[in-house]
Parts: sequence; C-alpha cells; structure tokens
Amino acid sequence: MHIAMVSAECAPIAKAGGLGDFVQGLAHELARGGERVEVILPCYDVLRREALTGLREIRADLKVPFQNRLLDCRVFAGTLDGYDCLLIDPRSEDRFFERGCIYGEPDDAERFAFFSRAVLEWLCQADRRPDILHCNDWQTGLIPVLLAELFQSRGLEHTRVCYTLHNVGYQGRVEAAILGQVGLDPARLMVPERLQDPGDPGLANLMKGGIVHAHFVNTVSPRYAWEIQNTEQGMGLQPLLHSHRHKFGGVLNGIDDSVWNPEVDPLIPVNFGPNSLPLKAANRKELRSRMGLESSDKPIIAVVSRLDRQKGVELVQHGIRHTLAEGGQFVLLGSALDPVIDEQFKRLRRAMDASRNCRIELGYDESLAHLIYAGSDMILIPSLYEPCGLTQLIAMKYGTVPIVRRVGGLADTVFDAHYSDKSFEARNGYLFDDPTEDGLESAMSRAFGLWKRFPEYFRQLRINGMRGDYSWRQPARRYLEIYAHVRAH
Ligand code: ADP
Ligand code: GLC
Repeated sequence: MHIAMVSAECAPIAKAGGLGDFVQGLAHELARGGERVEVILPCYDVLRREALTGLREIRADLKVPFQNRLLDCRVFAGTLDGYDCLLIDPRSEDRFFERGCIYGEPDDAERFAFFSRAVLEWLCQADRRPDILHCNDWQTGLIPVLLAELFQSRGLEHTRVCYTLHNVGYQGRVEAAILGQVGLDPARLMVPERLQDPGDPGLANLMKGGIVHAHFVNTVSPRYAWEIQNTEQGMGLQPLLHSHRHKFGGVLNGIDDSVWNPEVDPLIPVNFGPNSLPLKAANRKELRSRMGLESSDKPIIAVVSRLDRQKGVELVQHGIRHTLAEGGQFVLLGSALDPVIDEQFKRLRRAMDASRNCRIELGYDESLAHLIYAGSDMILIPSLYEPCGLTQLIAMKYGTVPIVRRVGGLADTVFDAHYSDKSFEARNGYLFDDPTEDGLESAMSRAFGLWKRFPEYFRQLRINGMRGDYSWRQPARRYLEIYAHVRAH
C-alpha cells in the first residue's frame, strides 16, 4: 500500500511534541512491515537536515495557486528509517517556513493552508496517487476538504483519507477568507454541516472540515475518543463527532522502541533494562551532576513537558513545592509558547536558584530529556486533558514511575499501584482524579510513602512498567485495518 503521511512534525527532523514522535514511530513501523510510506512536511529552516540521508531536490518547478498568485516551490526528498521524507519549500516573500520555529506565528493559518494546497498540487503535478493520505491535526484539516472539492476530479479519485486528531484543544478556527485563498468556495463550505465553526458562525473550523470530509477519523486513545464525544473535552465538537461516530474511533499510540529503549539508547550514559535495573543508578548520578543537584538518596521527581495550560501548569508548580516538602528532589524540562506561563516558570526558576534539590530548565533539549527519563524515579503528569500522552510511556520504559491524572490516554495506560482492578503485574503507577492540589498530593504522598517504606514493592512497580508493550506493532496493525477498510468503501 502507498501511504502518504502529512503532518507539521516528524521526529527527529521537526519535533515540537508528541505529534513528531507519532509520525516517526508509525511511519517507521509501517515501512518495516513492507508498506511504501512517505512523510510530507514543510521545509522549515529549523529542520534537522543532517538526520536525513540522500537529501536531494526532486522538483524545481512546482506551482501552487495561493491568494490569487502562483507560488513557485521546490520539493526535496531524503530518507529516514526506511521511508522517504518529502519537503515542500515555497519561494516567496512570505517566507512561510523560514521563521526559526515550527508553530506560533501570527499567520500559522495561512502557512498551513498553503502547505495543504501545496501537498495536493505536488501529488497531482508529480502524478503520484497514494492509496492513503494520513492527515494530522488542524494544520492538515483542509486536505480532505480540498481533495473532495478540487482534487478527486484531478486524478486522486481513489485516494482515501485517514484523519488523526491529536489535540482537540487546537482546532484551527480561522477567518473564512482562508478558504478562498486556497481556491475553495467559502459560500459552499461555510454551512453548519461543513466548515462553519460551531461556536462562532463567522469562523471556519479547519479541524471540523477534516472530520466531515475524511473517510475515517480517529484520535489517539480510546478514552479520549469517548471524552471528546461525550464531555466538554470535545471543546464544542461533541455533536459533530457524535454524528460521525460510524467513521470515528480511538487508537492508542505506541512509542518507537528503536528510539526510546534504555537498553540501547545512545543518549544516556549507562544502558539498562528490566534485568539490569541497578544500572539505572549511574544515570541518576549523572542527572544529579548535570543538573547541579546535591548527591543524596532522595527520590528524583521529573516533569518533561510543553508548558501549556493542557498540561496542568499550576499543578506542576504545586508538585514542585510538594516534592520539596516530602523531602524529594525535582527536575523540570519544559518549554512555553505562552509568554504568561513562560514568565511564571522563569520566576519559579529564580526562586529555586539557590536550591540544591530543584532544577528548572526552560527550553527544548532532546538529549537532556533522555537523561531525565533514565535518571529519575517518578514523573509527574497532572494534565487537564491528554489525548494520549507519550511521556508516561517513555518514563515507564525507563523504570520511572508515572504519577498522572486519570484522563485521556493517561487513564488508558497507567494502572494504580493500590487501587486497580488489574493484576499486580499490570500495575505501574499512581492516578488521581480531581485537578486540585489535594488530588495531586494524595497520589504523590502515596507514591512517596511506597518509595520510603516499601522499596521492594516500588522496584516491582518500575519493573512492571518496563515490561509493558508500548511498541507500535499493535497500533500499526490497527491503522492498516483502518486503511484497508476505507479503501474497500
Ligand atoms: P504533547 O505532544 O502534548 O506535547 P506527549 O506526551 O505526547 O505530549 O509528547 C511529548 C514529547 O515531547 C515527548 O517525546 C517528550 O519527551 C518531548 N518533550 C516535551 N517537552 C520537551 C522539552 N522541553 N525538551 C525535550 N523534549 C520534550
Ligand atoms: C498531542 C497530545 C498528546 C499526544 C500527542 C501524540 O500533542 O497532546 O497527548 O500523545 O499529540 O499523539
């Protein structure tokens, strides 16, 4: 099968969060199974080109209509783990992908609307006809719309779209004029059953467009699939998702075990696994030394996260205070796009400057993230909502016990040490329900209590987490079933 995955991110060349891991892991697993996989991305200036092999220009004269102009684009191709990466590089004064970042620009809507049109132009003009276009999040929500409205009649009539929702908190609610800029007819599309935003009838909702026009829609865990249909987590899309439930489901993410595997990870000082857990101590020691924490036998609690409201940033701050009160050490690696949140954490960093038990690193640092997973004892994830969450899966692989809010994919993957209907071998962490300081403290105190008083039980929890199968094998099979299903209908 020929599968083209279209996304704003793909690790390791363009990653801001879990979407990058998702595309990397699924593309890798599908290619390993013998499928023909291509990932199509914008050619950002921040792309880590050195990770691609055989990078070359494959087209110099792609013409993309946009805003009543024809923009010239080049297309580059290079190879990652067994699949091709195609990069769309517009040459215009807009400099859409030369901004020193992936997201967060005032014209993000135009940037990704342009990209969506460019992807389909490229497929048509290069005479490529993938069986499946796998689109992701609001940035590529216009692709199924453009396919249905303009491109099925230009040779892509057999191409089917699977559309994955990674975060319903960002729907791409934009001025309706964007539709005209990519060659769509706003008058036809700005109606309740198509792209009109459910909350503000003056706006177009790109994610809604993707949901309505894709052949299958899924989100990244069964629990979040239920939550966004039935609770306010749907952020206004509940009725729409409900009415499309015949083509909607939840598929739990995996993690790429060639990237996230403490037995072979080249980014950590000492490799270890469930049968050599004592070697984790060398990573803990290196983490303390790199972060300037005093050497001690206190447990290290970690956060590795985008610092976004979604992640429960107030509770993260409380988690730091509570850890220090319980006599633990804390490390945080986080990056905030929101200036208010960024400032809060900068203030906290200043307040902690003198502490030898707490270190706050603000920024994005892939290799430090690996060391934190390997060297910590527990990871805190107090999300307000969480479509899947990968950090709990990675942490568990590295013998770090997750303390998480019972929501979305966290609830599907973490099973409480004390209160669970699972067998002992399946229990791997701590959960709390209320997104309050009391709720958080209740789970943290139980975890600290076990760590202090029952170290053997705590060790077993780590082992249970490490032995879990979070690989892409099962989820990739599920996506292949979805692809086969939409091709047959
Ligand atoms: P989300 O996609 O909502 O940010 P996930 O848990 O799905 O959350 O995935 C987050 C991914 O991004 C993980 O691979 C995590 O290690 C990584 N990550 C998050 N913040 C940072 C950071 N500041 N530095 C390095 N890696 C980070
Ligand atoms: C989003 C979600 C996260 C999920 C990731 C990959 O960024 O916030 O929960 O794990 O996408 O699907």
